[in-house]
Amino acid sequence: MVVGEFTQDTDLLIIGGGPGGYVAACAAADHGIRATVIEKADVPGGVCLREGCIPSKTLLNIAKIMDEAEEATQFGITFGKPKADIDKIREWKNSVVKKLAGGVKQLLAGRKVEYINGSARFESSTSVRVEGSDVAHVKFKHCIIATGSSAKLLPESLMPRELCWDAADALKVSEIPKRMMVIGGGYIGLELGQVYAKFGSEVTVLEALDGLLLGADPDMSRPLINKLKKQMKTIHTSAVLKGAKKSGSAVAVTYSIGGTDRTEEYDRVLVSVGRRPNTDQIGLEKTKVSVNDRGFIEVDAQRRTTDKRIFAIGDVAGEPMLAHKAMREGKVAVATIAGKAAAFDPACIPAVVYTDPEVAWCGVTEAEAKKKGLNVKVTKFPWSASGRAVAMGRTDGLTKMIFDQATQRLLGVGIVGAHAGDLISEAVLAMEMAAVAEDIAVSIHPHPATSETLAEAAEAMLGFASHV
Ligand code: NAI
Repeated sequence: MVVGEFTQDTDLLIIGGGPGGYVAACAAADHGIRATVIEKADVPGGVCLREGCIPSKTLLNIAKIMDEAEEATQFGITFGKPKADIDKIREWKNSVVKKLAGGVKQLLAGRKVEYINGSARFESSTSVRVEGSDVAHVKFKHCIIATGSSAKLLPESLMPRELCWDAADALKVSEIPKRMMVIGGGYIGLELGQVYAKFGSEVTVLEALDGLLLGADPDMSRPLINKLKKQMKTIHTSAVLKGAKKSGSAVAVTYSIGGTDRTEEYDRVLVSVGRRPNTDQIGLEKTKVSVNDRGFIEVDAQRRTTDKRIFAIGDVAGEPMLAHKAMREGKVAVATIAGKAAAFDPACIPAVVYTDPEVAWCGVTEAEAKKKGLNVKVTKFPWSASGRAVAMGRTDGLTKMIFDQATQRLLGVGIVGAHAGDLISEAVLAMEMAAVAEDIAVSIHPHPATSETLAEAAEAMLGFASHV
């Protein structure tokens, strides 16, 4: 170390202040562990808060309000045609991010967590070098790596970086392009594609696989895809991107479907083809931490890496790359460091696509159950039979449960419909509690509420569902 450089000591160093990292830091303080967070961005909160989950949900909420205003004509209420004021939308979105980032800072400061704004790189299994801060080195007893993930880029030969947006660019809401192509019809592509379509862009989705959202069962994604087909210009599946080049102020994209090439011009191209873990720039070679062939850090049930005092959580520690998984892992790692018995062994990790309608699922899907040869019974409750859904004019939903045939234990749940992402929590709790159909069926659900669709799907397993 260079003489005169400032070195700090800490009991627990957390690299990365995203949902995994800051929640771990709060948990550490609550366990009485002296913790330090190093975050390289200007504000804590991670991609999720700055340029992911939170800004995208802010925009999706606006898109939904625009939709609802238009659809209200069926209830006898007519508004003028909703018009997106992009400057005000950006201002609102930025204010939401600022407010929540300030909240995270307060949570950390309130718990006396040391916060360093800088970029950390391991120099050994017990210390990191920090760039961009007065503190040059931090020595630690334990460390949690929570450095998250970055958007995957396409090869330069296919899609030069300067010609495309990633999700962070799209979330800046700098303009509403007239013609927009979205490459990749996964979580980000569909969420942001729906936002821009609602704001007035003509959106074309290009997906390599032969369907959208293939992680969910087709009956779950169908209501969403039906809606997207109306909102977007075109959705191409089984499409192969062949290349892109600048054409005046536009981008000429060449792709092939069924062996036929076509070239079309777009004002903006959003690339959303997945994310990759941020494990390559943090000096892991100076530690004994092992990384697998997909770039994820290898961890055990406590989220301990192969370097026994270093833990890893969140997107760097494997899929699914979801904030709520990172938060739970952070708590498990911290409890372990605090000497408590803990393990990351959830009954399920819910997935939610926050489009409108929302698609949410947890546990096994019907397709997975079939693939695994599980002896299951699948029950469904269509929202057209839900009084609340009818009252809201939102009968485009479906609740599905997958039970073990012999024990009637709940193995998986899928929900598509308004606020499915909120409703899925009941299913997650039921799975954690190892609920059987009767547990859910006899739990009195409020009426009228779309949560009743869960009780009715469970009743269907028992051979009676009052409303179908
Ligand atoms: P994704 O994995 O959800 O979807 C990427 C899609 O791109 C896939 O359908 C894939 O087949 C397609 N693709 C890949 N290469 C392609 C190519 N060359 N041409 C056309 N299509 C191609 O990834 P996405 O949407 O980028 O999101 C990344 C991750 O971020 C998600 O997996 C999720 O973990 C997280 N996320 C979660 C959200 C949520 O919880 N609501 C929202 C946004 C992101």
